[in-house]
Amino acid sequence: MIVCSCNVVSDDDVRDCLGAETERVSVGAVFRTMGHEPKCGRCARNISGIVDEHVAVARCSGNGDCDNCQADQLAA
Ligand code: FES
Repeated sequence: MIVCSCNVVSDDDVRDCLGAETERVSVGAVFRTMGHEPKCGRCARNISGIVDEHVAVARCSGNGDCDNCQADQLAA
C-alpha cells in the first residue's frame, strides 16, 4: 500500500528501509535512507506508525512480555 503519494513509497518500502533496525528512527531518517525528501508531510504519521510497529516487533524476545505480545493475548 502506498503510504507516501508524493514520493510513491509503500509500507513495504519503509519496512525494507528499516531492515534489522531495533532503535526508533525519525521519519526524516527514513526518507533520507530511501533517497527521498518529505514534501507535503501528510504521510509522516503513517510512516511513524510503521517505524513504531517495526521497532516493537524487532525488540520482541518472544517471551510474551512486550506490548505486542500482550495485545495479541488480549485479542485472543
Ligand atoms: S505524502 Fe509523503 S510527503 Fe506528501
